[in-house]
Amino acid sequence: MSGLDDVIAAETALSEVDGINGRLVICGHRLDALAGRTAYEGVLALLFADLCRGDEGAIGQKLSQARGRAFAELAYLDDALLDLSVTEGLRALMARLPDGEDSAVALLLTAAPAVFVPALIRRKAGLDAVAPQSGLSHAADMLAMLTGATPSPASISALDTYLVTVSDHGLNASTFAARVVASTRAGYTSAVLAALGALKGPLHGGAPGPVLDMLDAVGQPDLAQVWLSTALARGDRLMGFGHRIYRVRDPRADALKAALHRLGAAGGMNADRLALAEAVEREALSLLHRAKPDRRLETNVEFFTALLLEALGFPREAFTGVFAAGRVGGWIAHAHEQVDKGRLIRPQSLYVGPKAA
Ligand code: ACO
Repeated sequence: MSGLDDVIAAETALSEVDGINGRLVICGHRLDALAGRTAYEGVLALLFADLCRGDEGAIGQKLSQARGRAFAELAYLDDALLDLSVTEGLRALMARLPDGEDSAVALLLTAAPAVFVPALIRRKAGLDAVAPQSGLSHAADMLAMLTGATPSPASISALDTYLVTVSDHGLNASTFAARVVASTRAGYTSAVLAALGALKGPLHGGAPGPVLDMLDAVGQPDLAQVWLSTALARGDRLMGFGHRIYRVRDPRADALKAALHRLGAAGGMNADRLALAEAVEREALSLLHRAKPDRRLETNVEFFTALLLEALGFPREAFTGVFAAGRVGGWIAHAHEQVDKGRLIRPQSLYVGPKAA
């Protein structure tokens, strides 16, 4: 059954994914010129250029105010929501936000996951939510709301690198879902909710938690080969490997691996954990290349996402929510582009059922 491979379903000026050469370009900038060099507000200024007037500083100020508005929504975080997973709790809180197609709605939606995800993590652990602080950057505030402490410059830079790296990526499943809903003129909140639903699946944004489960199951570097070959023989997919578009290494994996090395032991990166991950990556690639020589399965973004978010103190069940905090910028920019320049998305299906009598 078709997975729409190679079908062009939208024109976009937001990002280009070159799967042959392993390049990602966001609004005319190569990922390696942005990741580790620009704060999340900087990439939002690019993605939202047609949506919110203002440079990085102006967007940062508006985003800070929007985090305050999102925090007020936590009055609706009742205990029943704490029985849900973090991603489902996030989806429920996001669903309360007003719909619309203007910059105020866009900024509130962008700010909300950075407030809701730390609050859900803390409340599930029996702790009170920490309020956002004006004057902090988006990444710094998200970390402060997670830990209740002042984050180090190295942690802020690592989270910024992550949020920038995942901010947009062509017509991935969640972004496509956002564009389909936006094309009906339902509003940006509805578009983001659809995208969040698509992101949750393990074939998309649900993979990084299971990457850590895999590392835990492997246990130590010299057991990687046996564990991975047994998993492949069982028919399992190795989480953090393979991609629909990339036929070479996902450039985002390298951006995040570099961020991990910059974070280092002082920033929370455990050297044994990294050595285990690198052994698993080596063995997995060697096995996958032998098993599927024509498919070229390589490391994808989720593999090093798992290690980076773990080092920053996010629990694994919240990784998809942190992914949403970065990708939300791309979803909204695409929803806006669809509304501004596109038409109702309504493809055809081919009927293969029984003939009518
Ligand atoms: N481990 C083992 N085998 C794999 C893997 C993997 N990670 N990925 C693909 N394959 C195999 C498939 O089983 C299939 O084998 P077959 O031809 O014998 O049936 C072959 O390679 C081709 O796979 P497809 O299903 O065509 O690949 P597709 O483009 O549909 O899927 C996907 C891409 C979903 C990312 C896949 O590689 C996968 O499941 N990876 C693991 C989950 C993961 O890491 N998800 C995060 C993706 S990144 C992101 O969305 C942000």
